[in-house]
Amino acid sequence: MSISRRAFLAAAGFTAVSAGSALLSGCGSSNTRVTGESGAPSSLEVFSWWTEGGEANALSSLVSEFHLHNPNIKFINRSVAGGAGANAKAELARRMKAGNPPDTFQAQAGAMLDDYVDAGQLEDLGFLYQQQGWDRSVNPTLLALAKRNGKHWSVPLDIHHINVLWSNKRLCDHLKISSAPTSVPEFLTALNKVAAAGKVPIAIGTTPDQNWQVKHLMEVLLVAELGPDAWSTLWRRGGDWTSQPVSAALAALRQIMSLTSPQTAAMTWDQASAMVGKGEAAYQIMGDWTEATFTLSGLIAHRDYDWSPAPGTSGTFVFASDCFTLPKGAKDRDAAIAWLIECGSQGGQDSFTAAKGAIPPRSVVGSTERGLFDTYSRWSMDQWTSTHIVGSLTHGVVARAAWNGAIDAAVTTFVNDRNPTRLQSALVTAAHTYAA
Ligand code: GAL
Repeated sequence: MSISRRAFLAAAGFTAVSAGSALLSGCGSSNTRVTGESGAPSSLEVFSWWTEGGEANALSSLVSEFHLHNPNIKFINRSVAGGAGANAKAELARRMKAGNPPDTFQAQAGAMLDDYVDAGQLEDLGFLYQQQGWDRSVNPTLLALAKRNGKHWSVPLDIHHINVLWSNKRLCDHLKISSAPTSVPEFLTALNKVAAAGKVPIAIGTTPDQNWQVKHLMEVLLVAELGPDAWSTLWRRGGDWTSQPVSAALAALRQIMSLTSPQTAAMTWDQASAMVGKGEAAYQIMGDWTEATFTLSGLIAHRDYDWSPAPGTSGTFVFASDCFTLPKGAKDRDAAIAWLIECGSQGGQDSFTAAKGAIPPRSVVGSTERGLFDTYSRWSMDQWTSTHIVGSLTHGVVARAAWNGAIDAAVTTFVNDRNPTRLQSALVTAAHTYAA
């Protein structure tokens, strides 16, 4: 019988309290704690977009772990609702511009941070990397993204898997379709069968505030048609957005969109996941924060839901990594540093990632640590070490905010006109304008 991650952690003696003491004692000097000046009470304003599904649960798991080591620091949760930071990113930009930064904010490793780095709004975290030994422990792919101009700008907390197809196993079995179609044409055939049976083929939000989910689907289709190398080339100057595989991906996007249901149009990603969980929809293409939400709802892997690499993307791991930063002018810098130390520690990362559907961002995950994670996350860990790794567009790795914004506008137009040719030429123009 499978049990939820939280139940597993509790059963293994890793409740928030015991996990903290066990993991802390194992972490040695690299876990030096800061509890405000001379242990004096202080507060910490943490900005994120973790309000939905398993996200809020994972955040509170990390906060419990943080409080074990920093009992005097009051946690102030400044999360702004909206999947993929749909609202939070704009709110953060406003605050940073107004010179009113939070003590620390959730960011995504990679290009998402470039504007803040260029504007000189972040502190170099080289001193913490040196003190905590993170140059040696952080996975090299993520370390390269955390650094720019020889300085360290963020502390990675997790690795998320973006190109995942989620399915309702019972519904797929009932309709005699694969819960893990391996190619885009096979996926389209399955979607048509679901539609013919009067069920929702794919759960996806498409209204303007939710259509980052369409962008997510688009990027996965682009990876499927282009392959990992050509996908990565798109984000460099001269990347060819006019190619036939790009056209094929956008044509597939149009076909899939024609099979979406108005019932899911305004849904947040976790509402869409719930439809799959209940068997009202057959599939969802979404990052693995979905898995945390399934688990939290008591659904059982391989019985109630299933997963596989998104059609056509086997052998590639599209990733994103949530990280935290130290803005210049943070009101409680000591407390922010304590938070960053927690985010960079094995205990903090395990408490968060095991509840988030993610995996830890360190080079080495030992067998005892691996045992804290469920079947899905162990599969994801194996994929991470055995596939071709590429960065995500929708989740901040490959393109700066302005380029992402231009693509968002193009996707919004596409959702209305369903014209893949127009979408492709908008993507070409965006690349000409923003590729560095
Ligand atoms: C991603 C983020 C994840 C998850 C997701 C849905 O951008 O990296 O941590 O929160 O959005 O909101």
